[in-house]
Amino acid sequence: MTPVDKRPGTPAMRLILPLPGNEIFARRLADEGGWELGAMETRRFPDGETYVRILSEVKDKAVDLVCTLARPDDGFLRLIFAADAARDLGARQVNLVAPYLSYMRQDRRFQPGEAVTSRSFARLVSSSFDRLLTVDPHLHRYPALSPLYTMPTDTLHAAPLLADWIAAEVDKPLIIGPDEESDQWVSAIAARIGAPHAVLRKVRHGDRHVEVKLPDLSKWRGRQPVLADDIASSGNTLIEAARQLPLQGFVRPVVAVVHAIFADDSFQRLAALCDRIVSTDSVPHESNSVRLASLVGNAIASAPHDEGDLIRHRRPPEELDEVKQVGFDSFPASDPPS
Ligand code: R5P
Repeated sequence: MTPVDKRPGTPAMRLILPLPGNEIFARRLADEGGWELGAMETRRFPDGETYVRILSEVKDKAVDLVCTLARPDDGFLRLIFAADAARDLGARQVNLVAPYLSYMRQDRRFQPGEAVTSRSFARLVSSSFDRLLTVDPHLHRYPALSPLYTMPTDTLHAAPLLADWIAAEVDKPLIIGPDEESDQWVSAIAARIGAPHAVLRKVRHGDRHVEVKLPDLSKWRGRQPVLADDIASSGNTLIEAARQLPLQGFVRPVVAVVHAIFADDSFQRLAALCDRIVSTDSVPHESNSVRLASLVGNAIASAPHDEGDLIRHRRPPEELDEVKQVGFDSFPASDPPS
């Protein structure tokens, strides 16, 4: 009889365990790798506290808790309790698969007295998990997750998948980023499909108030504009950009976004200005058209299997720019100063 391969990456020893609301993504991931799909029970006690019970056997397994972190505040304690329970019950590794990683945008103290939540959040997550895998975290002032997270992290990119969708579905696209930060995504998408690209200018005046200015795009008139961005949060960045394009004689844009948060009625307001809106399934949403399971599954399968590797990678946080030395910027969170 062939001995069972007990490395955590192998099907027998890995458990994909969804937090509530992540069952569909977790099932696709488990199918992708031929891994076991687990289950847990959670509820609120009458006093509002959280009950967590893992219903699957975790002993000696690599356990991947699957939890997108859009709107994280309600379920965060539940996630930490589940990670601790998996470890108590004998899991060999407890990993977090968070297709969307929250609290990446308050990465400086923009006003005196503000909490730098990206750091606090990273510290809490790093203390509960052995490894983090995520897709297109909002890396702007931090070049990578390593200054924040003190465990091994895998950062995956959805741009090639969005690019392939655009190549298959859109004729003569012009890829447009709504602000300078989006240049990294739009240039990657445009290069992959051999399309031209342009980047707009954005000034953020508040959490929901942005101003978007278009350069002269007239030389590309006749092309189908495709607005591409990492996050639709309040949605106003994309709404403002979509509003401006017809003023230069373009048809209604297609929108391709990685993380479809779409607060309040922003999706409906954007849809009224667009031809189509597509997103990845990093955040469950009606616009999801591009699946990430294969990208994420391949990354899980190729992650190092040796627990020694995890221990070697654990390290104190890297030196950050001292917030006090940097001083206070006068612009609100989320975007760079103009
Ligand atoms: C810029 O910081 C990001 O790439 C997004 O453009 C931004 O987070 C979108 O935010 P909102 O949808 O709230 O305008």
